[in-house]
Order: sequence, then structure tokens, then C-alpha cells
Amino acid sequence: MGSFWLYNQNKPHWRSNHFFMLRLLFLSFLMAAGCRQGSSGQTATTTGKPQTADTTGYYQTKQPAYDGIGRVYMGREISEVMGHLGAGWLERSERQQEERTDLLADALDLKPTDAIADIGAGTGYFSFRFARIVPQGKVFAVDIQPEMIEYLNAGKRKQKTPNVEPVLGTITDPKLPANSVDIVLMVDAYHEFSNPREMIDNIVKSLRPGGRVVLVEYRAEDPNVPIKEHHKLSQAQAEKEMKAVGLRLIKNDRRLPQQHILIFGK
Ligand SMILES: C[S@@+](CC[C@H](N)C(=O)[O-])C[C@H]1O[C@@H](n2cnc3c(N)ncnc32)[C@H](O)[C@@H]1O
Repeated sequence: MGSFWLYNQNKPHWRSNHFFMLRLLFLSFLMAAGCRQGSSGQTATTTGKPQTADTTGYYQTKQPAYDGIGRVYMGREISEVMGHLGAGWLERSERQQEERTDLLADALDLKPTDAIADIGAGTGYFSFRFARIVPQGKVFAVDIQPEMIEYLNAGKRKQKTPNVEPVLGTITDPKLPANSVDIVLMVDAYHEFSNPREMIDNIVKSLRPGGRVVLVEYRAEDPNVPIKEHHKLSQAQAEKEMKAVGLRLIKNDRRLPQQHILIFGK
């Protein structure tokens, strides 16, 4: 997420902009409130902190970093989840310019009949845009926060996109039908998954033959990307985690200013 609460506040441009600082304080409050709220019916809070002990052996625990949850997967500490009260930030008007969100669809080479799963869809920023590019296909818009599902249902009515199907997933399972999707898209979401291994195992089962898994994540390799550490992901780390479930990198598309577009296939 290109949100300022993910920005590394050591960057000098923050200190020089009073308007931004006011917004920072206000939205940090909203973010904190969002993180405190329980996510009814789920097995995790909206901070992404699992409420039950790990029995899989995939994860280790550590003292949480300021933007992490203290759970480590393959050497990476998992980040906190963005609470639903941060929804307005996902829809901010500057987002297209900051993240060049308009360039993503071209990189994915979508067909009008494609079935897309937008996992960690949030408010549906990408779900609704992509639904128009696949008019004969569909978009499964998956999130674990019931409040985000409400945003998605409201957006579906408002934007008249019947081919968007909001899906309430769990922290381990996006609840997609087997063999049902051509492209699984995760924009600024994968690094928040408290159970990435189980999620990706289930995602792989949902892929049709030739299906692709796309991670759009802030580049950890680039110190000029002003985002907090646990909200970034390096190509090497992503490749390591995807290889563990039998996925290989097909392409790292570098057209976005701050994010990788990492395209994986079986
Ligand atoms: C930072 S937001 C990004 C939203 C959207 N992709 C966008 O770019 O506008 C990340 C979203 O991932 C969701 N999320 C976190 N863990 C998830 C999981 N295991 N399955 C599905 N969604 C998850 C959060 O609830 C949150 O809405």
C-alpha cells in the first residue's frame, strides 16, 4: 500500500511538509483504531496477529518490530495488516500518480475472458478497474476483513460491475474454487499474510493450467522507496517463498516507479 503510514518517517521530505504531518497524525490515529478492531468470525485480528499458536512448523516467533507481527517466515518478519479504517487511503486521489496504478494492467496482458483473483483486495481499487478489462471473465475480490467485503459489495452496486465477486477469505485460505483462475493478483498484500505458506498452497490449487501468480510489492532493494521495512519485499525473498510451493519467476516487470511486478508460474 502506498500509504504514508508505511512511509519511512526518517526521510527528510516528511519533516518539511506540515500539511503532510497533520494528515500523518490524523490517519495514524485511524490506522491504530483499525488495527485494534477485531475482525469478527476470523482467526486473526486485523493487525494480522494470529490468535492461535503455530502448529505447522513453517513459522518462528521473535520480538515484533514496530511494523511487524513477530512471526517469521523463511527469514522474513510478516508485517501488520492495514485495518479497514485506512480504506480511504487506498482510494486517495494521488495514488495513480504516486504508484502509476494505470500501468499495471498492461503488464499483465489480460484477456477479456480471464478470471482474476484479487487477493487482499481491500476496497477493490484494482478489482473494479480490472473487471472492466475482463468483461466476459470475472474478478474474485478476496479479503479477510468483513468491513472490506462491505466496501466491495457497495462498490459492486455503485460501479455496476456484476463480474466482481467479493469473497470473505480466512488467514489461511482465500476460499477460491479449485482450477478456477487465470491470474492471482496480490497488490501490496502478500507481505501482510500471517500464514503465507498455507495461503499460497491454496492459491496454487485455484490456478487453471498456465495460470499466473502476480506479486506487486514495494522494492526492498531500493532505499529510495520511502516505505517501512516490513511493508517491502525483495525479489530474492519472493522467489525463495514461491519456489517453496513450486512456483518459478517468469518475469520481474520494472515499469512501476516503486513496486516490483513479479510474475510467477508453475
Ligand atoms: C494494504 S491493503 C491493499 C489493498 C489492495 N490490494 C490495494 O492495493 O488497494 C492489504 C489488504 O490485504 C488484506 N489481507 C491481509 N491478509 C490477508 C489474507 N490472508 N487474505 C486476504 N486478504 C488479506 C487486508 O485485510 C487488506 O485489506
